[in-house]
Amino acid sequence: MRHKIVLNVFLLLSLCSCKNEVKTEVKKGITPFTKAEAQLSLLLDKAESENKIPRTVSEKGEIHWTNPKFDWTEGFFPGSCWYLYEQTKDAKWKKAAEKFQAIFEDHKYKTSNHDLGFIFNCSYGNGYRLTNNYSFKNVMITAADSLLTRFNPNVGCIKSWDVDGGWQKDRGWMFPVIVDNMMNLELLFKVSEFTGNDKYKKAAITHADTTLKNHFRDNNSSYHVVDYNPETGAVRSKETAQGFANESSWARGQAWGLYGYTVCYRFTKDPKYLKQAEAIATYIINYENLPDDGIPYWDYNAPNIPNAPRDVSAATITVSALLELDDYSKVSYKAFIDKIMSSLATNEYTADIGSNHSFILKHSVGSIPHGAEIDVPLNYADYYYLEALSRYNN
Ligand code: GLY
Repeated sequence: MRHKIVLNVFLLLSLCSCKNEVKTEVKKGITPFTKAEAQLSLLLDKAESENKIPRTVSEKGEIHWTNPKFDWTEGFFPGSCWYLYEQTKDAKWKKAAEKFQAIFEDHKYKTSNHDLGFIFNCSYGNGYRLTNNYSFKNVMITAADSLLTRFNPNVGCIKSWDVDGGWQKDRGWMFPVIVDNMMNLELLFKVSEFTGNDKYKKAAITHADTTLKNHFRDNNSSYHVVDYNPETGAVRSKETAQGFANESSWARGQAWGLYGYTVCYRFTKDPKYLKQAEAIATYIINYENLPDDGIPYWDYNAPNIPNAPRDVSAATITVSALLELDDYSKVSYKAFIDKIMSSLATNEYTADIGSNHSFILKHSVGSIPHGAEIDVPLNYADYYYLEALSRYNN
């Protein structure tokens, strides 16, 4: 399925609450993509002057930069720059992507966290896809080797979090695996292709199979955290960290699962992964409390619906995944994709140029149980939106 952004924005105006405004803008040649580029140009100016990577907006109303020691979101801003380079061919974006990903290159050696797939695939991975720069490929290989140190064959998974420090220390876990971890597998699949060594791919497949077995409920919604015994591989508990309750469905977790199994199908063509991605999509699309505009509450079972905060990041990850899944599946996701894309384009979710501290999208949620990043812009909401816009365009 191939889309044209401008045409579809026109086509779908009937779904938009702010349809007249979007219509007027499109007539003037202002599209969702041109607005996104204008915003990130302003954000790039701020990032350049601080030499830091923007993550979100703090409670004080200032840009919150990524933690230079390590931050799971540090790959997304350079990744967004790569998508802008792909779409505009403006060398300014390539230069920016290279500069900001170089800030954390050394983190490829870190073995204390599972997030290396997120970080290095979104940044160096897009860079390699667009430039064939072999040094980017080498960074990805080193990051994949670091990530593999966390794979435990007894469990059949990559360990998500260490449990000897931070808030995780108080949860009594031994080997926690979060559904988000499915997003780290793309790096492993790619590095197997680069190196011809299938150890990375084998670990990715084993992780995906173990997660398929233990993370999903009968209705194909997902637990956030499954804790394992690292000696026996037995499941110790199924819980949440960022969702409303252990038995609730945290919205971004459902999106990570959908995206992760779609990617597993891309690399393996194993029909069980396609089936799982389709099943998660069915859960999301048919959920009874999903708002009419398709932008989910932060948890599908959040308290205070319909007044619970939305999570735009969950919507952008979901729609980007569906744009890929639509190419593989006999099911058409076009209507739901169009609904989300047209909703995101309205001024309810897309910031006016110069506002929102120059992030593209408003109304995302980091972690409500931790009281962190509630109803804010997030660099990963913007990254997956740009990816979705690129997938529309390509
Ligand atoms: N662990 C990534 C997230 O907050 O979704």
